[in-house]
Amino acid sequence: MKYLIYNWKASLPESLDQWVSAVKKAQEKVGVSDTFCIAPPFSHIDALEKEASLQGLSYQKGAQDVSAFSKGAYTGDIPASLLKERGVVYVLVGHAERRRLHGESTEIVGKKVVEAQKEGLIPIVCVGEENIDDDLTPHINEAVSFVKKGVSMIAYEPQWAIGGSVVLDLSKIEERITLFREKLDGVGKEYVLLYGGSVSEDILSQLLCYTGIDGFLVGSASVDIKQSNTIYTSIYG
Ligand code: PGA
Repeated sequence: MKYLIYNWKASLPESLDQWVSAVKKAQEKVGVSDTFCIAPPFSHIDALEKEASLQGLSYQKGAQDVSAFSKGAYTGDIPASLLKERGVVYVLVGHAERRRLHGESTEIVGKKVVEAQKEGLIPIVCVGEENIDDDLTPHINEAVSFVKKGVSMIAYEPQWAIGGSVVLDLSKIEERITLFREKLDGVGKEYVLLYGGSVSEDILSQLLCYTGIDGFLVGSASVDIKQSNTIYTSIYG
């Protein structure tokens, strides 16, 4: 069973009810899955839930980030306990955009993981190299160290592949997934390895041939009404 995580980032679909209806149609066609998650902006967790329940859409609640602190005087932060209260199950931690634009270090990512784990949320730790020619070793090592600390979901997201602006060399992705697998398998714990970065309906069929990928983290394409339907259908059909 593949995982599918829709990460809307700081965007919304053109029409929330049409988006929900499109994914609902996909679920009517290929079935519901408890490994399907939607991570809207925090502001729309409730609005999405309301629309989904009106239309009978089934999904796991996701969040795009979590505070490195518990409840308290941390203006702007959203602690894991409050996410838990809203029914959130999965939380992205250390997304490339958080690292690059908000200076999140591995240490901060580690604190966020601990906060998420304390509340029983499932952290999805995102790792990946900035440039196509960068050494992969530190990123693999980071993934390995998080799996050793009980993280069960890693998303390999090469930063150069995020945002849909490059033509992906898919053989490179496959090679790199294999390198992650070799080291992560060596830890001897159960984990899933997701891939993220320019996943769209156009390249999904090819990515689905790579057995090393347990699922996908989809950004921009997941906000698109048509692709939200076709991607879901391809993954679970
Ligand atoms: P993208 O983003 O699908 O828009 O490349 C993926 C991600 O950042 O999770």
